[in-house]
Amino acid sequence: MNPPIAVAVYGAAGRMGQALLRAVHERSDVQLAAALVREGSAFAGKALAQTLGDAAPDLRYAAALDAAIEGGVLIDFSGARGFDAALALALARRLAFVSGSTGLAPSQLAALDAAAAMIPVLWSANFSLGVALLTRLVRDAARALPAWDCEIIEAHHSRKLDAPSGTALALGRAAAAARGQDFDAVAALARTGEQAARSEGQIGFAAVRAGDIVGEHTVLLATAGERIELTHRATDRAIFARGAVAAARWLAGRPTGRYTLDNVLFS
Ligand SMILES: NC(=O)c1ccc[n+]([C@@H]2O[C@H](COP(=O)([O-])OP(=O)(O)OC[C@H]3O[C@@H](n4cnc5c(N)ncnc54)[C@H](OP(=O)(O)O)[C@@H]3O)[C@@H](O)[C@H]2O)c1
Repeated sequence: MNPPIAVAVYGAAGRMGQALLRAVHERSDVQLAAALVREGSAFAGKALAQTLGDAAPDLRYAAALDAAIEGGVLIDFSGARGFDAALALALARRLAFVSGSTGLAPSQLAALDAAAAMIPVLWSANFSLGVALLTRLVRDAARALPAWDCEIIEAHHSRKLDAPSGTALALGRAAAAARGQDFDAVAALARTGEQAARSEGQIGFAAVRAGDIVGEHTVLLATAGERIELTHRATDRAIFARGAVAAARWLAGRPTGRYTLDNVLFS
């Protein structure tokens, strides 16, 4: 058997970070090399056993990557605030980079392309298998029904920082691309006051923020007299963590370049 791939988790103290630690821990083909937290975080210096129990690797949460993890992968779920430092670390240490951080600025998304000249890079707004399939279904439906109105409704927990969600935007981009539309020209990211009227060909977004909703996305296609609703509901954030760890395992040792979750799941 090949030795396990070394994995460092960036943003380890967060909701997703904690799920990632558990997802790495439950596999034998990847090994946790570091649990990285923000400088000054209350987690820094604490033993991982507090999260993973007695069977945890003998590691402590840390603000710096001390371990040598050649051939390893950095998994980042630190959000738009932590993303730049995470990518810089992956580049400095020549680690493959998996990121699920959302709400990224255009310059941050462009930085992923630039980094892909030096390291293998895989970013996805959603690491669930169900959403990967939903994206395919949306592409097909939008192409088959080009004149139907397309609206995307998403719901997430009350502490989510960005809206619309990265997944909602990715679904909208998939629908626009399937129809040959320029997404930025047709997207209505929010509707208020006099800007509220729907224009032809528009792709509209609505965001709900409440309670502890893990993540729900509905793509609505409607015309006079009928409508189709394609919905995905996540009830456990472990699915995103497992998807990201599977992606990390797949990405390790690949040539430099930009990869997608679609490559992992369907290639
Ligand atoms: N792609 C997917 O499948 C998927 C699924 C779910 C969520 N997400 C995205 O993943 C991100 C994290 O979500 P979450 O719910 O886990 O948020 P969260 O609980 O707020 O966790 C984010 C973590 O990142 C840490 N962080 C921020 N800046 C940092 C830095 N410079 N260095 C190190 N750590 C830093 C935060 O530390 P402090 O708390 O100490 O500030 C926090 O622990 C969001 O962008 C979310 O939308 C993606």
